[in-house]
Amino acid sequence: MKIFEPKAKHDFMNGILQGDAVEKSVKLYKDAKHFYKNVDADLRDDTVMYEVYLYSKGDDKVGNLNWGLTVLKPVSVLGECNMTRGHFHKDLNCAEFYFGFAGKGLLLLMDEDGTCYSEKVFPGSVHHIDGRVAHRLINIGDEDMKVGACWPVQSGHDYERIEKFPFKARIYKDANDIKVEEE
Ligand code: F6R
Ligand code: ZN
Repeated sequence: MKIFEPKAKHDFMNGILQGDAVEKSVKLYKDAKHFYKNVDADLRDDTVMYEVYLYSKGDDKVGNLNWGLTVLKPVSVLGECNMTRGHFHKDLNCAEFYFGFAGKGLLLLMDEDGTCYSEKVFPGSVHHIDGRVAHRLINIGDEDMKVGACWPVQSGHDYERIEKFPFKARIYKDANDIKVEEE
């Protein structure tokens, strides 16, 4: 029997997901401006807002899984906490698990009726996201927020739907106070 090295390594609490099979993408402020209520003219376009590491089998074979890591930077946009773009899955049968590794934040969730609610995210937190629920991560702390994810390859991301039907809650930080603004 041959014994192989793993195809990826993930230093859960202190590091990142690495390996030949891992793809990394970076979201810069210039591509994230429309997530926030206001545009911060003082924030450079090339500011890194978040990084996503993905270990995928790379095909859409039903039953295959993706493993991912999101690193959300502690940036604020005129007081509004940094967040991921957020999405519904294209295949609404596909649920997802998120799990907190580092930092502090919220998992903002919105069901198909537009009802928003959230769960606290911290090292060790585990979150099941139903396939019909839109999801977005928000960093409310002062350090990188690292969140792992596992979801089916056939989920897809429906970003258009969330842009037409946006989350109805925004999170702001003033010194250490967190404020929720709801529509
Ligand atoms: C996958 C998933 C995460 C996000 C990542 C970035 O279904 O939920 O891996 O893709 O946190 O967020 P978005 O994709 O909303 O920019
Ligand atoms: Zn998702």
